[in-house]
Amino acid sequence: MKQKKTGTLLCLGVTAMLFQYCAKTDATVSSATNTTSTVTTPQLPATNFNYGNFALPAHIAAALPAADNTPANNPITNDGATLGRVLFYDKKLSKNNTISCGSCHRQDLSFSDSAIKSKGFLGGITDRHSMPLLNVRFYRSGKMFWDERAATLEEQVLQPIQNTTEMGLTMTEALSKISVQSYYPALFQKAFGTAEINENRVARALAQFVRSIVTTQSKYDQVKQGLASFTADERDGETLFLTAGNIPCAGCHAPPMFLTSNPTAGFALADPADLGINNQGRFKSSSLRNIANTPPYFHNGSVNSLQAMLNSNIPAHGVAAQDRQKLLAFLQTLTDAAITTDLKYADPFQ
Ligand code: HEC
Ligand code: HEC
Repeated sequence: MKQKKTGTLLCLGVTAMLFQYCAKTDATVSSATNTTSTVTTPQLPATNFNYGNFALPAHIAAALPAADNTPANNPITNDGATLGRVLFYDKKLSKNNTISCGSCHRQDLSFSDSAIKSKGFLGGITDRHSMPLLNVRFYRSGKMFWDERAATLEEQVLQPIQNTTEMGLTMTEALSKISVQSYYPALFQKAFGTAEINENRVARALAQFVRSIVTTQSKYDQVKQGLASFTADERDGETLFLTAGNIPCAGCHAPPMFLTSNPTAGFALADPADLGINNQGRFKSSSLRNIANTPPYFHNGSVNSLQAMLNSNIPAHGVAAQDRQKLLAFLQTLTDAAITTDLKYADPFQ
């Protein structure tokens, strides 16, 4: 109930463009809910989707080399990311076959969750709010989680499987469950040259899939390519984002992916229950792209709309009344709606 209310409020509060977006999102949700039979083997295209080798628009391609956390030994390949996609959506990676990565990182919600905290395989609640998995490869340091406790994405992707709230398996159990599914040997063979199934390969494939999720089709991207123009509010909002205040928004949410592992200053929403990175009262932020599609916000999910954030007195995030509408308009240009339905990132078990 609560989740639905948040979504409705968001839709009511903003422009006609977002109205359309929300309507689309709702349609996606209800068609998914209406699916009565869930297939048990993944439905994959005869020819792989392209995950690793598509042209990025120039303004994004220019930023990639300095930001990319892809390790030399795990470049994205189409076969590797295809295997990663199957693993990402396979509920057999949870103890009782009820939860996949995609349960808490929902494609229709930009690989985030509308719940303040997400439900694990036994209904237990996660410690923090789920993070949107967009443009993760642009986080230079590669450190993952709100508190950056995982050193790399390859290290991170194995942790939910073994987390006692989230998916509840040991790695040995996970590997043997994967091994007995008829569809995996061929997928491992294609991805890694032999059918051997091991922890390292599971990690590499999942990481390849997550790194392949890059947003390039927002209004912001069209404007940067000269294919569209900002409204006056959007343009003023961009200027505020880039320049206003002691530390502008962009100092910590750097364009073009609105993400940086090297922020100008540390920041955390004050939270006595959670001290974040090294207990220093700091947190990372994920990419602000598609931010209008990922409420609630912050590590504890305590802010339920962008409007509420801008209206608040949260340091660096509450802004003067005359700036709010402009910043909101700009933030809404960061939404790439296509990625929320693109088949190459969709659940292959439906
Ligand atoms: C039960 C819900 C749940 C499941 C299942 C789940 N996650 Fe998450 N995920 C979360 C939460 C909550 C966080 C933030 C946790 C934290 O920071 O302590 C998170 C964080 C992440 C991050 C960090 C992103 C960043 O920018 O730092 C990645 C990557 C990720 N998850 C990938 C996965 C993968 C891959 C799977 C499946 C193997 C998965 N998750 C399964 C809830 C879930
Ligand atoms: C000093 C660095 C800093 C500045 C300046 C800053 N932010 Fe943030 N922002 C962060 C961090 C870190 C987080 C995550 C903090 C947390 O969850 O505790 C965050 C979170 C957010 C979120 C929620 C992200 C999510 O996925 O939940 C939004 C939206 C946001 N910031 C927008 C802005 C805007 C707009 C501005 C300028 C008005 C701004 N930020 C200024 C560091 C900063």
